[in-house]
Amino acid sequence: MSFATFYQRSIDDPSAFWREQARRIDWHHPFSQVLDDSRPPFAKWFVGGTTNLCHNAVDRWVGTRGEQPALIAISTETNTEKTYSFRELQDEVIRTAAIMQSLGVGRGDRVLIYMPMIAEATFAMLACARIGAIHSVVFGGFASNSLASRIDDAQPVLIVSADAGSRGGKVVPYKGLLDDAIKLAQHKPAHVLLVDRGLAPMEMVAGRDVDYAEHRRLHIDAKVPVVWLESNEASYILYTSGTTGKPKGVQRDVGGYAVALATSMDAIFCGKPGGTYFCTSDIGWVVGHSYIVYGPLIAGMATVLYEGLPIRPDAGIWWSIVEKYKVTRMFSAPTAIRVLKKQPPELMKKYDLSSLQALYLAGEPLDETTSSWISEALGVPIVDNYWQTESGWPILTIAKNIEDKPCKLGSPGVPMYGYKVRLLNEATGALCGANEKGVVVIEGPLPPGCMQTIYGDDRRFVDTYWTTQSPESGRPMYSTFDWGIRDDDGYYFILGRTDDVINVAGHRLGTREIEESISSHPNVSEVAVVGVEDKLKGQVAVAFVIPKVADNTTKGRATLEAEIMRVVDKQIGSVGRPARVYVVGLLPKTRSGKLLRRSIQAICEGRDPGDLTTIEDPSSLQQIKDALRG
Ligand code: PRX
Repeated sequence: MSFATFYQRSIDDPSAFWREQARRIDWHHPFSQVLDDSRPPFAKWFVGGTTNLCHNAVDRWVGTRGEQPALIAISTETNTEKTYSFRELQDEVIRTAAIMQSLGVGRGDRVLIYMPMIAEATFAMLACARIGAIHSVVFGGFASNSLASRIDDAQPVLIVSADAGSRGGKVVPYKGLLDDAIKLAQHKPAHVLLVDRGLAPMEMVAGRDVDYAEHRRLHIDAKVPVVWLESNEASYILYTSGTTGKPKGVQRDVGGYAVALATSMDAIFCGKPGGTYFCTSDIGWVVGHSYIVYGPLIAGMATVLYEGLPIRPDAGIWWSIVEKYKVTRMFSAPTAIRVLKKQPPELMKKYDLSSLQALYLAGEPLDETTSSWISEALGVPIVDNYWQTESGWPILTIAKNIEDKPCKLGSPGVPMYGYKVRLLNEATGALCGANEKGVVVIEGPLPPGCMQTIYGDDRRFVDTYWTTQSPESGRPMYSTFDWGIRDDDGYYFILGRTDDVINVAGHRLGTREIEESISSHPNVSEVAVVGVEDKLKGQVAVAFVIPKVADNTTKGRATLEAEIMRVVDKQIGSVGRPARVYVVGLLPKTRSGKLLRRSIQAICEGRDPGDLTTIEDPSSLQQIKDALRG
């Protein structure tokens, strides 16, 4: 079948299309309606059907593939490697589920998971799915304040964590950060379940903190049946950054997500049961949720969970994993490939990579040089794919298993089945034609697997994402907040964000969150943070601050810069740390006081600052230029 036919059917008759795809997973009770779109933009998929993500990822395979590898946990930080078969994974998930139940966790309760890339993190996610608890994984790189705001929003009954992570051989203690976060938060979880890796000392809080190994032993023979959930119950919340300082809890369902992942694993990722999938992301991000944990397992594949850097002990480490575990499909981010490109090429040639069939890259723009380099080095197709935390699976890519359409350098591809992608002229609200830049929008209803709402805030969901209507159909349209352009062949090119979100090494961060953190420094009066192009990381955060009391000596500026970096490290984590902090006397603003971030960013990147008719004081631009120079 041509992709065009496949796609068109998903648009013309979504119910028939998705009814067919729904056969890819197990349903305990069949659904009565494929799509309920009676209350746009809140779409409900597979209404009345009951299923379970853990069943589809784990239990379902135990009968036919029980002894086959399911989870391959590798850490080059602790030099450990352990493979769990589907049967062993099921046993561990059941034990973890039993611990959770003994700690009072039930259906619909939230469990916050703040963990390094260790097997127990996966057990915890799947255990939640098994008993119908809603997990919220917080990236281990986030620090106390970021964690506290997520604790307050999700109000978890239980937090699962560990003594420490490790990065580049350096221990990163988690427990102290977590204790600080719980102190900062209004909401207090009843229990904290802790995995002790023996990396850092932990002070256990009596009555609250529980040791994982000890409780695992208590539940070694536990039996915890799968809880069958209605397709539209929530499976998880994953916080992501937006325009405001307050992170948005992207909430996803159960059935739609399972079907969307199963379909994408076949149509896009050509995943076959028995194959091995190696996704180098982190479980704290959406790529980790969809393509480390749920997607590969739902497809009956083994999945690699890797803790470590791509270049330690040397830049051959990933390729040695590909050789050893006969990895068939790999998923990474352009920044990681740019890091590898700087390393000696022999390290790649040392290994037998014949099992590898394709490399998928996502999370940030893929530049042509990086794409060509890695494609030549590996000798396999490189497939760019564009999507978001909100969508849960690719919006734009090439569905190689439906039709092997050629990729175009610089373009993630064409709209995937189920997504009615359009480009909207920001000023006029009209749809753009070919080769005309606009905002990438998707006409509702969104396909299965996409976010249901913002956790606890339907209003914010509508007000944030659904502010435009299609001039064709009058239907509400979802905004991706990305600029894009489409060529004459229907291929899209992504041209950066329309909002205040930046993308550092594939990590999505809100400049407002960083600004709020910097503002808490006692000597900061005003601050602007922008994302500036960076050859390696795609973008880096750069801050411009107006101090309350200026010390314009070189030493004074350097001290303030260092102090601000420490504040961000402590509150958000080093992922949010600006690459540079510049001191200025004035920030470019409109007469109504709105920061002209796009102009600041343009100056930093040596571009024209754009339309300045509304600027309050044009000398502020010169201040930015001087700061950068001096
Ligand atoms: O700006 C787009 C960029 O990353 C954003 C989504 O980030 P996140 O929610 O972390 O989800 C990542 C899922 C892969 C998008 O709004 N982005 C993502 N993929 C690409 C991309 N930009 C260009 N090309 C891509 N392939």
